[in-house]
Amino acid sequence: MLDRLQDTPPDALLALIAQFAADEREDKIDLGVGVYRTDDGATPVFGAIKAAEQRLWEEQVSKSYLGPEGDRGFVHALMPIIFGSDATMGGRIEGVQTPGGTGAVRLAIALAERAGVTRVHVGTPSWPNHIPIIEDVGLEAVTFHHSNDDGSADLDAVLGIIRQAREGDAVLIHACCHNPSGIDYTDEQWDAIADALADSPVLPIIDSAYQGLGTGLEEDAAGLRKVLAKVPYALIAYSCDKNFGLYRDRVGAFYAKVAEPAQMPAAMSNAAALARANWSMPPDHGGAAVRIVLRDEDLRQQWLDELDGMRQRLRWVRATLAGAQKKVEGVPLAHLEEQNGLFAMLPLNKDQIAKLREDHAVYMAGSGRINIAGLTKGNIDKFIAALADVAG
Ligand code: LMR
Repeated sequence: MLDRLQDTPPDALLALIAQFAADEREDKIDLGVGVYRTDDGATPVFGAIKAAEQRLWEEQVSKSYLGPEGDRGFVHALMPIIFGSDATMGGRIEGVQTPGGTGAVRLAIALAERAGVTRVHVGTPSWPNHIPIIEDVGLEAVTFHHSNDDGSADLDAVLGIIRQAREGDAVLIHACCHNPSGIDYTDEQWDAIADALADSPVLPIIDSAYQGLGTGLEEDAAGLRKVLAKVPYALIAYSCDKNFGLYRDRVGAFYAKVAEPAQMPAAMSNAAALARANWSMPPDHGGAAVRIVLRDEDLRQQWLDELDGMRQRLRWVRATLAGAQKKVEGVPLAHLEEQNGLFAMLPLNKDQIAKLREDHAVYMAGSGRINIAGLTKGNIDKFIAALADVAG
């Protein structure tokens, strides 16, 4: 029976982790998988999370099951961060905890399928796991063009999809810090998208995995909030992996916005049933730590300060790369300063990416995506020189 299985290639992005680890060159640079790094190249546990974990260790009296919804305190503590002061919109937004943002995307797509969605429009390039999740649920993924070569988002493409959508369509949109391009919609573009969605049968699915790493915690949620203010229904996938540094603890949440509070029990009971069938219950530890941070004024401030520091460092990397444009002919860098989050796309071909790895020990995704957090004061000049070498 199992002899029918064909080899399937490992996830290229995750395979880079092992390739990088095996490289013995001391000056190697990891621009692969999306984790934040300090200027020392470390991905430390947030101080606020460490303190919350200690409190959790002292105060937690049981690890008995919580249920498929996970930690409701965590789910609710996060809501004002994502949705603003009117966080439930009068009982029209509710959610469940999920194993990471990936679990939340999975739940959103699976719930959309139960609600009658048959195809999901995805702007490309996108996170390489979006389309596999859509297809694994059994839906059709239809792509449209997300970003222009000049570093702007292709507004006409997304508006065209929304305006031509039919019943049974969904559109997956990145809330901020677009992965992999770093190219977000402007405020005016979000207004146009929200207006178009209000007049369309398309179901918006918004993936928010990097809130706080772009231009600010509130600013990064502005587009999502504009959409939710206008549409009757939406699904939101949220990740705490990056903005709480909880990657391997798998901390995320799924939310649904419905038109009437009376529709919420059906939405949440289906979400809970899907969670039960997929993973039964989400892992608790990281979500509990986030809940403790968000409910404690001092820890919350400490978290906000730590997040500010991360964002400022990412902006420094972007500004430094943009400032190096004159040294690197043929690879546009100047617009990186206007973009947001961990990622940027460099228009390099396979040979140039291989040369960067082989000659300069610079590891990046085969798509041309770099994780800019891998650049530090200690290695950014070497990276710029390597780029100039392969581009020249
Ligand atoms: C990334 O895009 O590098 C991250 O979101 C990690 C992942 O799971 O792919």
